[in-house]
Amino acid sequence: MEFQNVSVKRRSIRKYKALPVEHEKVRAVIEAATLAPSWKNSQVTRYYVAESKEAVAAVRETMSEYNRGNTANAPVLIVVAIEKNRSGFGADGKPTNELGNGWGLYDCGLQNMNLLLKAADLGLGTLVMGLRDAEKLKSIFSVPDSQIIVSVIALGYADIDPQMPPRKSVDEIAKFF
Ligand SMILES: Cc1cc2nc3c(=O)[nH]c(=O)nc-3n(C[C@H](O)[C@H](O)[C@H](O)COP(=O)(O)O)c2cc1C
Repeated sequence: MEFQNVSVKRRSIRKYKALPVEHEKVRAVIEAATLAPSWKNSQVTRYYVAESKEAVAAVRETMSEYNRGNTANAPVLIVVAIEKNRSGFGADGKPTNELGNGWGLYDCGLQNMNLLLKAADLGLGTLVMGLRDAEKLKSIFSVPDSQIIVSVIALGYADIDPQMPPRKSVDEIAKFF
């Protein structure tokens, strides 16, 4: 699919078909994430991928009731984390500027956008979720303390074709000088 198509057609999907996603496609969306730019190429984003029924159920347990409803039937849930204190930090371990780990989160967002667009390109739906219990997720996947849990991304075949929610105009978000 062309970029314009993929970027316009991608939607947050809150209803999935009870169909598995091919493991190669799961790897392909993560491979796309690795192509994104990052602060000094630090590549701090990490993915914990729940593909088995047990792992998916365990991740869903950490989510709000709303997101549990959104992910009924979702065959894959990708837990996203970042290595902290690296992106945006100097060799001396000090933050380079006031944003600190904000830069790692920035890099993570860029990577995840690649992941979402690749999924759309492969005919898969996604949902980024910020409503989840980070401590429970850390314990399920033995995530080290050097990492911060960010989001959970659902991946699967869409069982719904939502409209695009309204977007702000270019003039609302940009000032030209
Ligand atoms: C950081 C982030 C957190 C989000 N958290 C949730 C969430 O917990 N549950 C949910 O249903 N949607 C969540 N969303 C999806 C947004 O609501 C959605 O992207 C937005 O309404 C625009 O719709 P679209 O993705 O179809 O363009 C989240 C999106 C982002 C980027």
